[in-house]
Amino acid sequence: MSLIGVFDSGVGGLTVLREMRRRLPRADFLYLGDTARLPYGSKSPETVRRYALNAASYLRHHEIDLLVVACNTASASALPDLAKCSPIPVLGVVEPGARAAIRSGARRIGVIGTEGTIRSGAYQNTLQHMRVDLRIRSRACPLFVPLAEEGWGNHEITRQVARIYLKDLLDWGVETLILGCTHYPLLQESIRAVAGPSVKLVDSATALSDVAIEEHGALLGRTQGKGLLRLHLTDASERFLRIAEEILDSEADEFRVVDLDSGPTSPG
Ligand code: DGL
Repeated sequence: MSLIGVFDSGVGGLTVLREMRRRLPRADFLYLGDTARLPYGSKSPETVRRYALNAASYLRHHEIDLLVVACNTASASALPDLAKCSPIPVLGVVEPGARAAIRSGARRIGVIGTEGTIRSGAYQNTLQHMRVDLRIRSRACPLFVPLAEEGWGNHEITRQVARIYLKDLLDWGVETLILGCTHYPLLQESIRAVAGPSVKLVDSATALSDVAIEEHGALLGRTQGKGLLRLHLTDASERFLRIAEEILDSEADEFRVVDLDSGPTSPG
């Protein structure tokens, strides 16, 4: 395997990329941030499906060997379509997140995510399908994505917003809380401060990279790249690059602003 393609609407998928690079330091990655069309979470499922198919076909055009859909909203709306037309393995975030929550042993599971992810019922259905005796509650948290994009992971405003969003789940006695959006691990300090120490947080980014290694370990083990990171964005963003450097603790080896319909347009 030579190149792993990863995509999300913005900085959220970098939490998946960080985890995968840590576990596979010699693999080469191409990350696509569809920043021109962010956020996905408030769009209709049909629109998200179209964006996701478009992003996947762009990455496949670059001859990736594994496609990682590092976006819960896209995974919830488009994973079957993405897998159906794909000659290479495709991994999404929802099932790994659900499996990790079940492994926590909790019976009361809370799911937070974008409006699109929560409305799709993808986590609720997957969890219930895996275990019928679970009690599940969910909550869309639409302000979390802009707060993560702003880099306000540990900020009083984020804690205030989290108090409002999480109140009902905490009053209900949630035991395990699935961070069902790859942007949310970037707010983990604030979410942890509000949820308290007894609530287990399941980070779908870590869960996804665990599954990538478990299920594609043999393929990934053969990865003999140079540890290169190529970063392609659909809209130039200084803020994205600053946050990306903080998250990944390194600079990209290649940066491009691209048009998904016509390929790379200009070097950054
Ligand atoms: N990070 C994405 C997710 O996991 C999408 C956020 C957005 O664009 O709304 O759902």
